[in-house]
Amino acid sequence: MEKTRQLKLKFFLFINAIFIFIIIITTVRTSRSYRSIPPPCGALDTCPLQLSNQSITPLENTKHFLVSAYMDQRVKGFDIRIIGIFRRDSIQTLYCLFCCSGHLSTTTPVTVSVHSDHFGFPFSATDVMCQIPPNCEATHVTLLTQPDSVEVSNQRWLPIKNKETSKEEEKTFQFDFTVCISTLFGEYNNVLQFAQTLEMYRLLGVDRVVIYNTSAGPELNRLLKTYSEEGLVEMVEWPIHKYLNPSNGWLFSKHGGDLQYYGQLVTLNDCIYRSMDWSRYVLLNDIDEIIMPYQHDNLKSMMDMLQQQHPDVGYFVHLTILHFTQTYVIF
Ligand SMILES: *[C@@H]1O[C@H](CO)[C@@H](O)[C@H](O)[C@H]1NC(C)=O
Ligand SMILES: *[C@@H]1O[C@H](CO)[C@@H](O)[C@H](O)[C@H]1NC(C)=O
Repeated sequence: MEKTRQLKLKFFLFINAIFIFIIIITTVRTSRSYRSIPPPCGALDTCPLQLSNQSITPLENTKHFLVSAYMDQRVKGFDIRIIGIFRRDSIQTLYCLFCCSGHLSTTTPVTVSVHSDHFGFPFSATDVMCQIPPNCEATHVTLLTQPDSVEVSNQRWLPIKNKETSKEEEKTFQFDFTVCISTLFGEYNNVLQFAQTLEMYRLLGVDRVVIYNTSAGPELNRLLKTYSEEGLVEMVEWPIHKYLNPSNGWLFSKHGGDLQYYGQLVTLNDCIYRSMDWSRYVLLNDIDEIIMPYQHDNLKSMMDMLQQQHPDVGYFVHLTILHFTQTYVIF
């Protein structure tokens, strides 16, 4: 009984009865000035670079974790957005330190914003914003607890993704439609459901599915490996259980644990920024949810119409009441 309940819970969003589908249009004007391919780092020798090669990086001298760093100049006065998982009762003053094509920068002040939707858990999705100092071709960033960069030898560095490009450059996207699936966990192994949904997405014009993977069952692993080799699926390793005690539920007072729902809000935020330069549209939903257009052949033509009708809108939220295991939203 308990097992079945857990299985059912697995792909539920944290809001139980009402599912929220969010379509983010990544073509907002401000996001047009970046490119995703990091520049080749030729002369890194003088930065003591210990690159983070994982999607969760403990931050030296703190209780926090870093996930990824993105160029983001949409907010005036900031250049970099670092997505992290911060312990809410241990927020301290931090400083950004950059590797500027080979040499260390001076540090710059940091603005930490802990997301307010932490549902009472000790850890929360957090955005860290800071500025690149002048005359710095920043390739990597890390955070320090001191304003001087003397003790940086143990520091793990994050590559900066979504590089700035010249404003005139016409934006072309490699993908039309990306679906973000937040954390796969608990040896989930429903191969038929995944195959059905992935093929349905494909028919509807989705050309990339990003899946954050904590653990999956043996058959599902095999299926997802095939889809990644073929290019439809991008797997992001998400070993959150190695660092924290992630919760199976969404509310601390009810479910306990360190972080809401295996870090769902962190992975979905990361997926949006990860996709910003690659994909025209980004859709956040679960594997048991499919948005089914009925006036259009595919999701892109539906979104193109919606965008034409609402040219200033950056994201659409679709509400539906859940009645069945398979949820279909009809437009
Ligand atoms: C990541 O880095 C650690 C230590 O630097 C190393 O032991 C590990 O093998 C690396 N993992 C991968 C997947 O490269
Ligand atoms: C998912 O993560 C587990 C645990 O790290 C790993 O063993 C498995 O190969 C991953 N699956 C895929 C398809 O990448």
